[in-house]
Amino acid sequence: MMRASEFGRVAVLYGGNSAEREVSLKSGAAVLAALERSGVDVIGYDPADGGLAGLEALAPDRVFIALHGRGGEDGTLQGALELLGIPYTGSGVLASALGMDKQRTKLVWQAMGLPTPESLMLEADSDWEDIVARLDLPLIVKPVHEGSTLGISIVDSREALQSAYCEAARFDARVMAERFIRGEEYTVSLLGARVLPAIRVEVPSGFYDYEAKYNADDTRYHLPCGLEAAQEAELGELCRQAFEAIGGEGWGRVDVMRDVEGRFWLIEANTSPGMTDHSLVPQAAAHTGMGFDELVLQILATTLEPRRA
Ligand SMILES: Nc1ncnc2c1ncn2[C@@H]1O[C@H](COP(=O)(O)OP(=O)(O)O)[C@@H](O)[C@H]1O
Ligand SMILES: [Mg+2]
Repeated sequence: MMRASEFGRVAVLYGGNSAEREVSLKSGAAVLAALERSGVDVIGYDPADGGLAGLEALAPDRVFIALHGRGGEDGTLQGALELLGIPYTGSGVLASALGMDKQRTKLVWQAMGLPTPESLMLEADSDWEDIVARLDLPLIVKPVHEGSTLGISIVDSREALQSAYCEAARFDARVMAERFIRGEEYTVSLLGARVLPAIRVEVPSGFYDYEAKYNADDTRYHLPCGLEAAQEAELGELCRQAFEAIGGEGWGRVDVMRDVEGRFWLIEANTSPGMTDHSLVPQAAAHTGMGFDELVLQILATTLEPRRA
């Protein structure tokens, strides 16, 4: 067990300007409270208030990043912290930037022979007929840059494809179509070298969208996930490899679909997952007997080690 004083002065970064600001405010408040309970010298900081200059003025010894989405999870903040010489939690510049880009993440996974659903980039003048012929229906249309399922839709007909593209294009300059995997959804949390137990996410609508994530009360989280031990081990190892493939470090979460034949398909990597006390990573940690405060300390402790990726 590390002592609180080892960390020096810690700033928890939360809020920010991304579409996920509201979620981040909750994550940050939970992390801040946990570190206070552990006796760490900690202060919360919202980059939307004073930018980088404000953070520098606080002169923290290290930073806990509880920001989600652009400007916090996408490598830009990580680059700034590298230049300022301030250690921070989670993945470095490369993995953060890559994880934010779902399509280029898939290219890396494909190059390494890791399973991920086939996808195609969409443009305003795409040949919709051809896209449908190549990916089949239904298919998924999503903005390439990750966010809490904003702008994502399931497309059931060729006619709906173009409007789904237009909807996604409101959120992002780059939009992709992806083969739809019918089956079960899992998410696997990674903490340092450890793979935490998988969680099966069950959504009555079949679509874990913003509503299902943050508002619905019929979204169910199965933990233990219900897979046989050998399959869960296979899933865990796949996610560990997927996270390592993009250079992920410290902690993170990988989303996976399992088709009706039992094959796993990597969907995306999250390098700064939610950290409210009922978020997925804390739930997985709790299942191993690790409480929220201990989890937060362990994530923070990864900043004491030199980076590898
Ligand atoms: N290829 C796919 N097949 C089936 N469902 C998918 C697929 N891609 C995404 N989904 C569904 O959409 C949800 C959100 O997609 P995801 O790429 O994880 O975006 P976000 O960054 O918003 O979490 C997933 O949790 C899953 O329910
Ligand atoms: Mg996701």
